[in-house]
Amino acid sequence: MPSAPRRRLAPSLLSADFADLASAIHAAEAGGADSFHLDVMDGHFVPNISFGPALVAAVRSRTKLPLDIHLMIDDPLRYAEAFQRAGGDTLVFHVEAKCDPPEVVRAVKKLGAAVGAAVRPGTPFDRIEPLIDSLDQVLVMSVEPGFSGQKFMPQVLPKVAQARARLERDGRTVDVSIDGGITAETAGPAARAGASFFVCGNSVFSGGAVADNLRRLRAAVEECAKGAVR
Ligand code: DX5
Ligand code: ZN
Repeated sequence: MPSAPRRRLAPSLLSADFADLASAIHAAEAGGADSFHLDVMDGHFVPNISFGPALVAAVRSRTKLPLDIHLMIDDPLRYAEAFQRAGGDTLVFHVEAKCDPPEVVRAVKKLGAAVGAAVRPGTPFDRIEPLIDSLDQVLVMSVEPGFSGQKFMPQVLPKVAQARARLERDGRTVDVSIDGGITAETAGPAARAGASFFVCGNSVFSGGAVADNLRRLRAAVEECAKGAVR
């Protein structure tokens, strides 16, 4: 039976101190982060506005870890190249955006980046299913996109399990990311459902030492994952 990819932690810099991102990056790297998650918001797809390619390029200049760009924007096709050039390794777009999802997948791949598709909590797995064979990552949102520090929505876990089951059926080792409200308490259930990639903002950057926070999250993911079917 194919195995899920190695479980990884991706701190979201949205929760870090924007005035001192270099320190946040350094602390997360030293604490064992596997990659960074960058939340791009356009004020249309979500009510909030965060940052654009210039900040991604600034982060790129400070770390060699992979950068996942979570595009919470209406027009991913228009901006994909700018974020890839800025240093994004994986571009994750929302299937609910004003776009033709297969066209975005093709465009991102043509740029040479990995591609992920994200779904809001209320969007069914069926919206991802037709794309799944060409994806490098499936991202299931466990809060409504737009803000860090929200409460985890456990009702999305069956969707994580559906995605993992579909990937396993075809023997594909693809990341299923869970994004929103991940803590030492919620990471375990997500891991058991089949998540392999854990985006964590507040639980890493909003109190306590970053390395301690990451250690707790890692322990929760590894421990609870022992109960997973795979
Ligand atoms: C929400 C973002 C998340 C968020 C995670 O729209 O996509 O990545 O920053 O932050 P926490 O872990 O605090 O929910
Ligand atoms: Zn995100």
